[in-house]
Amino acid sequence: MGFSRILVALLAMIIGAVAVAGTGDSEYYGAQPLAKLAMHKASIAIDGKAQVRATPELLGLKGEDIEFVKVELQNANPTSDDWIGVFSPSKFNSSTCPEAVGDIKDQLPLICTAPIKYQFANYSNADYAKTGNASLMLQLINQRADFSFALFSGGFQNPKLVAVSNAVSFSNPKAPVYPRLAHGKSWDEMTITWTSGYNINEAFPFVEWGPEGGPQTRSSAGTLTFSRNSMCGAPARTFGWRHPGYIHTSLLKDLWPNAIYTYKLGHQLLDGTYAWSKKYSFKASPYPGQDSLQRVIIFGDMGKAERDGSNEYSNYQPGSLNTTDQLIKDLNNIDIVFHIGDITYANGYISQWDQFTSQIEPIASTVPYMIASGNHERDWHGTGSFYDTDDSGGECGVLAETMFYVPAENRAKFWYSTDFGMFRVLHCRYRT
Ligand SMILES: [Fe+2]
Repeated sequence: MGFSRILVALLAMIIGAVAVAGTGDSEYYGAQPLAKLAMHKASIAIDGKAQVRATPELLGLKGEDIEFVKVELQNANPTSDDWIGVFSPSKFNSSTCPEAVGDIKDQLPLICTAPIKYQFANYSNADYAKTGNASLMLQLINQRADFSFALFSGGFQNPKLVAVSNAVSFSNPKAPVYPRLAHGKSWDEMTITWTSGYNINEAFPFVEWGPEGGPQTRSSAGTLTFSRNSMCGAPARTFGWRHPGYIHTSLLKDLWPNAIYTYKLGHQLLDGTYAWSKKYSFKASPYPGQDSLQRVIIFGDMGKAERDGSNEYSNYQPGSLNTTDQLIKDLNNIDIVFHIGDITYANGYISQWDQFTSQIEPIASTVPYMIASGNHERDWHGTGSFYDTDDSGGECGVLAETMFYVPAENRAKFWYSTDFGMFRVLHCRYRT
């Protein structure tokens, strides 16, 4: 109804079209930096003269979910293409290879897991190839398991595992993290979706929330997850697989227009104790048609990048950090965000969804972060995607529809409308 609503709907579609046309698809193929690592060819060549040490061993002692770790290497046979892979869980050798699914040759011979990221040993250590000594600062986020740092020789194409560090862990690896807000199906409903390591049989998930400075109440949350068998192909189903954890969504109802609410994510464990997140806040949406100012951000194709410089081999999407930081800086002037597809570019490397939700946390925990599905979320051969390509890396839409809530009748079909003050936004993307 009204010109403004039509305008926003058209704007969303035009920007979607520009975003796709502007980038083209040629840069996508093989561009996911983890795809540069030939993990399926990796072999084990442990060298007693090489050592990797990571400190501190225990992270998040003050509730942090993001921290730097110092990684120190000593290698008697250094070469300029040695690299460090960050693995999680820390034990990733053949003894933890999962049962083969799909194309077995994609998983052989020994290392069944891609690292969550990597860096050259000589990054910030120019004389490493001479001395064999290096020290790197690498950033970790809390993502439900411990970490180790593995030194590889042989470059990216013939990786040989030379040494593995001690394990490093967050004090509560299962902690609730990375909340993302989204409109519910009605203007006065807000949904909060987050990730934890607690399945429903271990702890009861809920949101404790209420008007700022007023009485707080608790709303229960649903729990979703999925298995490797839900993935449509490699790498999501093979060496890109990592357990996504448990995805919880709580529906906050009967919100007052424009009111400020605070909230915390909680899990009540079976022994009666609690695991809590940090405290966050958001502003409820205006009543539909209410005379008010709406400041709407619409974009697509953002992706993610590492602040510690890792994954720098193909320098994938460093611009996403600029976009994220600018949005965070302007957050007081933003009411809602529409990310209209091509969200993480994880392309089948599942741990990248944690990295992305961590990167956007300051935004998505504060204003509704409404997503649509792009080709990099959905496309996979023979699965009903609009284009018959492998752009999702085998995710075939499962990650996008589970990690984020959308007020669609069928979450596998990302077509929906949402009311926001003077606007009704129709959210769709023609690519999928
Ligand atoms: Fe794209």
